[in-house]
Amino acid sequence: MIRVAGRYASEVGLADRISMVSGNAFEIEWPHDQDAVLISYLMYCVDGGLIPDLMRRAYDSHRPGGRLFVHDYMIEDDGGCPPLAALWLVSSLLADPDAVLLTPGTLSERAREAGFAEVGVHELIPEITKALTATKPR
Ligand SMILES: C[S@@+](CC[C@H](N)C(=O)[O-])C[C@H]1O[C@@H](n2cnc3c(N)ncnc32)[C@H](O)[C@@H]1O
Repeated sequence: MIRVAGRYASEVGLADRISMVSGNAFEIEWPHDQDAVLISYLMYCVDGGLIPDLMRRAYDSHRPGGRLFVHDYMIEDDGGCPPLAALWLVSSLLADPDAVLLTPGTLSERAREAGFAEVGVHELIPEITKALTATKPR
């Protein structure tokens, strides 16, 4: 991922403004004072019990006023299930048998528990993914 991201950064002339850090997100120290944190396609494939840890790390990483973006496969709060989102979520069990079905409601709750405000969830790729947005209060 770092190699791919580094290539994209170079292609658009941003290589000198972006630094890359590799490692296990649950073990490394995340950078501090960040304007924004994007977590894309990660929460669906990790042990659901570790999602609060990811949210807390993201919160600690932001400057006050910073914005969180979580982009991932999600089903609906009522269990309604676009087939493609459901398929991807089921496939996540191959990566970690303790992965959970993500919903806007549960993910929003985890974000608020971590301290985020202005939490909202919007459809991103129709019937497949949604994006949660939230703000670290000033
Ligand atoms: C489906 S890919 C998503 C890649 C990219 N974020 C995107 O949106 O296209 C999931 C990525 O999460 C990474 N990953 C899984 N568990 C991780 C962990 N504990 N710490 C850091 N990265 C992890 C995998 O190596 C993989 O690159």
